[in-house]
Amino acid sequence: MAGAEMKPLVKVGGLGDVIGSLPKALVKLGVDVKVFLPFYGSIDTKKFKTKVLKKNIKLDIDTRAHSFDLYETKLLDAKVKICLIKHKNFNAKDIYVGSRKYFKKGAYAKKKGAYSRNVDDVERFVFFSKAVVESIRVMKLQPDVVHCHDWHTALIPTFIDEYNFKDKNFANISSLYTIHNLANQGIAGLDITDYAGLHHDLTPAIMEDYHDQDGGKIDSMKVGILSADYINTVSPNYAKEILTKEYGASLEKYLGRRKKHLSGILNGIDIHSFDPETDKAIKKRYDNKTFTAGKAKNKEDLQILSKLEKNDLPLFGLVTRLVSQKGLDILLPALESLLKKYDFQLVVLGTGQKEFEVGFKALAKKYPKKVRANISFDINLAQKIYAGSDFFLMPSKFEPCGLGQMIAMRYGAIPVVRSTGGLKDTVVNNKTGIVFKKYTQKEMKKSLEAALRLYKNKAKFKKIALAGMRKDFSWNASAKEYLKLYKKLK
Ligand code: GLC
Repeated sequence: MAGAEMKPLVKVGGLGDVIGSLPKALVKLGVDVKVFLPFYGSIDTKKFKTKVLKKNIKLDIDTRAHSFDLYETKLLDAKVKICLIKHKNFNAKDIYVGSRKYFKKGAYAKKKGAYSRNVDDVERFVFFSKAVVESIRVMKLQPDVVHCHDWHTALIPTFIDEYNFKDKNFANISSLYTIHNLANQGIAGLDITDYAGLHHDLTPAIMEDYHDQDGGKIDSMKVGILSADYINTVSPNYAKEILTKEYGASLEKYLGRRKKHLSGILNGIDIHSFDPETDKAIKKRYDNKTFTAGKAKNKEDLQILSKLEKNDLPLFGLVTRLVSQKGLDILLPALESLLKKYDFQLVVLGTGQKEFEVGFKALAKKYPKKVRANISFDINLAQKIYAGSDFFLMPSKFEPCGLGQMIAMRYGAIPVVRSTGGLKDTVVNNKTGIVFKKYTQKEMKKSLEAALRLYKNKAKFKKIALAGMRKDFSWNASAKEYLKLYKKLK
């Protein structure tokens, strides 16, 4: 497996959660998994002890000779082996994921320099992808399947093809490409293919549409879609949606061509780290029998911490990257108008686009007893919000899977979501949450009002919250589906 993030070593969003938890579930099913990750300067090597596997591995890339070192580490609580690719591309500390700096500089960006932010990133991950394939060669690993995730590792299938010319062992390796989010595609100038040191031409399909007047562009996501043996996305519903113009992010045509080799597998969550019965980050641990008292205590704790008035008003939580995908442009104005009319509270946690950071800060300033805006990245506070909220907001414009709604249900916070992507697959209106269809402010407002009404009906409120808590969102079922897919590809 190869990817850009893996919790708890390094995480920005859901991708990190998935690569941090799916391998554990696979190991339990008897799969021998090795995860490849860049050796970021921000990885805590005191916590995660590393060991050199091999130094000075030569890489045929960028016309100059490059070399990297390969390290090994382990997850503390599992048998998952992790291989870290060490190269100066990834040394910087400020890629520290989740910090505000990170968002200001762009995903995984190294520094502002000669390249635009995006190109710089693409170059770094092309390097990483090729280094993964070279590691497979020099370490004589014989994987049945290489499972890559999102645009960062989308060139791996192409490199495997390339290696196949000189080393026939590569003919036995199949590739699976998982799309976590079509919104980020890793687009760069065509010269990135020279940088990649490819000795064969990319297929005409991959090059299609990209010879424009700027000298051409290459879209890493598209390369992954067209070149992997099989592709999947992170929920069955998103797998269907991305074939349409509305959700295809201009790649629907290519996804359509791969329809026979495309499916959706719902993400799981790590039910051990997200467990209100054992969670050390929350004030009072609880289960479905102690729900009412447990939630009340955690809510009080969250109110104190957030400097909100202590009361029994409905409390909404929002934990997310503050980006437009998350539906914040309909949420903010809806909240503005409802806060004038009704009494309820809101605790926000996240960083992201300036307009939303500013928007939530302004709301908190206007309603200090009702709204708290934490513009930061804080894993412990996130758990406290799941445990202390009555409702959890996720009105996404699109949502490949979404993990927040599943975590919220596990903590008995009722999700208020839009019916899209994985949200549609995981939340049932009136049974486990409040679901609305149309992406409009009006619908958003109506759903918030429905939540306020539901809160007054204590019996129904509890019934829905408990139904969510009882849902099984573990990896058990989905890891088996991945295993089935690996076997099919073998
Ligand atoms: C991305 C998607 C999110 C998904 C996650 C993990 O962050 O936006 O919907 O849950 O990847 O697959």
